[in-house]
Amino acid sequence: MSISLTRYLVEQQRAEGHIPSELRLLLEVVARACKSISQAVNKGALGDVLGTAGSENVQGEVQKKLDIIANDVLIEANEWGGHLAAMASEEMDTIHVVPNRYPQGEYLLMFDPLDGSSNIDVNVSIGTIFSVLKKTDASKGVSEDDFLQAGMHQVAAGYCVYGPQTTLVLTVGDGVAMFTLDREQGSFVLTQENVRIPADTKEFAINMSNMRHWDEPVKRYIDECLQGEEGPRGKNFNMRWIASMVADVHRIMTRGGVFMYPWDKREPNKPGKLRLMYEANPMSWLVEQAGGTATNGRQRILEIQPTQLHERVSVILGSKNEVDRVTSYHLKG
Ligand code: AHG
Ligand code: MN
Ligand code: MN
Repeated sequence: MSISLTRYLVEQQRAEGHIPSELRLLLEVVARACKSISQAVNKGALGDVLGTAGSENVQGEVQKKLDIIANDVLIEANEWGGHLAAMASEEMDTIHVVPNRYPQGEYLLMFDPLDGSSNIDVNVSIGTIFSVLKKTDASKGVSEDDFLQAGMHQVAAGYCVYGPQTTLVLTVGDGVAMFTLDREQGSFVLTQENVRIPADTKEFAINMSNMRHWDEPVKRYIDECLQGEEGPRGKNFNMRWIASMVADVHRIMTRGGVFMYPWDKREPNKPGKLRLMYEANPMSWLVEQAGGTATNGRQRILEIQPTQLHERVSVILGSKNEVDRVTSYHLKG
């Protein structure tokens, strides 16, 4: 018998008591939005969803039509339910407070509506990443400061990958569960519980074209992997780089591996490329919940105190023993 996302959440709420009904509603609404984004992604050229929108986001990146479509879908789906106080997104300069005409809840939702934008037009896996926090002071109105909580305070996190299958991967702090979209039924069906990332791996993911800009510890780690059986690691490594974090992380969730988008010398003042609040934090929590590790090379990502909504961070995550090794190379240096 198949278990739908709805049933899974209801049973989690009953058995574990750690999904209040408001959070359950929130997760159902996010899943519904992902379903609708998946539809748009699938239509491709037939739905006039490819190409650029002719605008830039706050980080100076050219927005694709689908970046904006996915952002709008998530906002519209979530703003009227009464479960949220505000939302924040890669594609919006500032927070989107739930309009006055709707009741305000206590949850805060952050998302990367469309991750892997450079892959949209070439028909390669892309996704949506989301993170949920709770307002710390329920008596006050909501502001950007409410969002600036370390990742360890997340109450739910997940991603949806739009690939050969549409898969929703979720944690509420009780392990990681995967749901596959059944298009005939129109619902997400539980297809894997208790996801575990093996501690060891022979596969790494990094954009090798940036090699000349890397810091010494990253250079050393990758160089040792590349030496294969003849080198200090004594084994051959394989490399993958999809350029959609969501797809690279999904591979790691499925068969292990290490993913790195480290700080590099191209723009030394930027701590990294990926965004802490709606890319690194949710992925780090999911990875930790599956037995993996996530650091910025020196510190556990979930312990970083954010100072800005769109803050960037260096990311090393995945199989525990490999991430620990890269981190130790940074700490020794
Ligand atoms: P986004 O499409 O949301 O801006 O994120 C893209 C990110 C991430 O998903 C991916 O791992 C990385 O950018 C790819 O960067 P490069 O093109 O530098 O490899
Ligand atoms: Mn992204
Ligand atoms: Mn994005």
